Amino acid sequence: SPLHDFLHGLPKCEHHVHLEGCMSPELIFTLAQRNNISLPDPATNPAYASIAALTARYDHFSSLDDFLAFYFQGMAVLMNEADFADLAWWYFRKAHSDGVHHAEVFFDPQVHIDRGIPYETVVNGFAQGCQRAENELGLSTRLILCFVRHLPVDNAASVYEKFVSSGHFEAGVVHGLGWSSTEVGPPKDMFREQYADALTRNIPLTAHAGEEGDPTYISTALELGATRIDHGIRLIEDPELMKRVAAQGTLLTVCPLSNVRLRCVPAVEHVPIRKFLEAGVKFSINSDDPAYFGGYILDNYCAVQEAHQLSVLEWRIIAENSVQQSWIENSRKAELL
Ligand code: HPA
Ligand code: ZN
Repeated sequence: SPLHDFLHGLPKCEHHVHLEGCMSPELIFTLAQRNNISLPDPATNPAYASIAALTARYDHFSSLDDFLAFYFQGMAVLMNEADFADLAWWYFRKAHSDGVHHAEVFFDPQVHIDRGIPYETVVNGFAQGCQRAENELGLSTRLILCFVRHLPVDNAASVYEKFVSSGHFEAGVVHGLGWSSTEVGPPKDMFREQYADALTRNIPLTAHAGEEGDPTYISTALELGATRIDHGIRLIEDPELMKRVAAQGTLLTVCPLSNVRLRCVPAVEHVPIRKFLEAGVKFSINSDDPAYFGGYILDNYCAVQEAHQLSVLEWRIIAENSVQQSWIENSRKAELL
């Protein structure tokens, strides 16, 4: 787009990217071989016949849950601390080249623990990647531990205990909590106890809500203490709630290419960017699972520009809100603005 260079140069912050969503088909096949893990038999799942076949399958997700099956299979080839560190480092290098200065990244420890990888291996590996990005690229980074909604709440309770007893929050290794995975089905408030406890510890909270689910998923997340909403595009269906979100300054972390690939909207034109701007709802633009959804953060910025033709002033508002709503100290915000 004509604004490509301008968008590249904007000081971007990413608030919604899953590190496990950065596993390209190439990396999945490479690590499967290196770590001696068998991928699904192509005879029963032809998507795993080759890198090209897997890449092609990603054009045809039918829903969030259809995508999630590939996402959980993809991350199952991560075994060693170095695998996690390399994955994070690879993402940060790409984000840096897209003009990202600050990145808040999700990870799903429950899913790794469930297949026998220790919590410490996952966090130490990802934290190493973050440290390297801070040292070598000058990025600021934040790790956000995500609970997953497709596993029983007891499973989340047990990882939350590990997280609390590790001292990782106080040590500045993990900076916040979120939830993700299957939205519609499990109880909307399934992490009520964990979020209530986290609030007493002043741990920043976010939540995936209003992606496939209706606006009551968003209001429930806010009620439980989330100060940020991941996706949140279905907020436009509840004007009263939208007014409240605007008045509170709650950030939505919008992921346009993800919304198209998961069929939440028919095209980027239908992501309610302009309605949010007009209502004074703060949002950032993000990549979600870039290796699965056909683009990294700059691709998402460019897709929004193509579809919505924003002005330079509107882009500056988006960039400034992204900095101001980041979970970083004011001195770092001042550097980014
Ligand atoms: N939605 C819910 N869970 C997820 C997503 C998403 O877009 N990406 C990775 N886990
Ligand atoms: Zn997400």
